[in-house]
Amino acid sequence: MIEPQQAMAILASADLIHTADTVDAAVRRVAREISERLRDRNPVLLCVLKGGLPFAGHLLTQLNFPLDFDYLHVSRYRLATSGSELSWRIEPEIALSGRTVLVLDDILDEGLTLAAIRDRLLALGAATCYTAVAADKLIGRTKPIQADFVALSVPDRFLFGYGMDVRGAWRNLPAIYAMRED
Ligand code: IMP
Ligand code: MG
Repeated sequence: MIEPQQAMAILASADLIHTADTVDAAVRRVAREISERLRDRNPVLLCVLKGGLPFAGHLLTQLNFPLDFDYLHVSRYRLATSGSELSWRIEPEIALSGRTVLVLDDILDEGLTLAAIRDRLLALGAATCYTAVAADKLIGRTKPIQADFVALSVPDRFLFGYGMDVRGAWRNLPAIYAMRED
């Protein structure tokens, strides 16, 4: 966690990447794409806590077809030497057997998190696992998973806002910002 004053200083010096209006329009477009593909599938939508919450909340109110909603919580530990490991804090409670699942997260970065989530949900019995992200980071490398639905592309920088945090701060912003390197 960081102090409020530090959070204010980070925001003041950050670069605005996508305005709240741009985010809003992109999420509406994704909601239409999801509706076209999944409206007859009675899908289970799964919000990845905590970052996926604003995206999931905005999407949910724009989907006018029957669906179930649940959440999951994973943490990814980035270890300097031995790669990264995912720890499951909360698994979905809802039975996934035979269901079409749509995972909602804030950002697809290297893709390890979303790939591991998809593998786990399929192991739990999901018939199909779709993924949707508010932001897809242009990292210039192949990712282990492509999101089926992407609201916005973002540069390969450290981002915050719209669910993404800087050491706990600024998940609540309606726009997407990038930290200044200096
Ligand atoms: P991945 O496994 O590299 O795709 O990382 C995905 C997760 O890391 C996301 O769900 C975020 O929680 C976090 N993350 C990745 N990039 C950023 C960023 O630029 N800002 C904040 N969080 C990020
Ligand atoms: Mg996350």
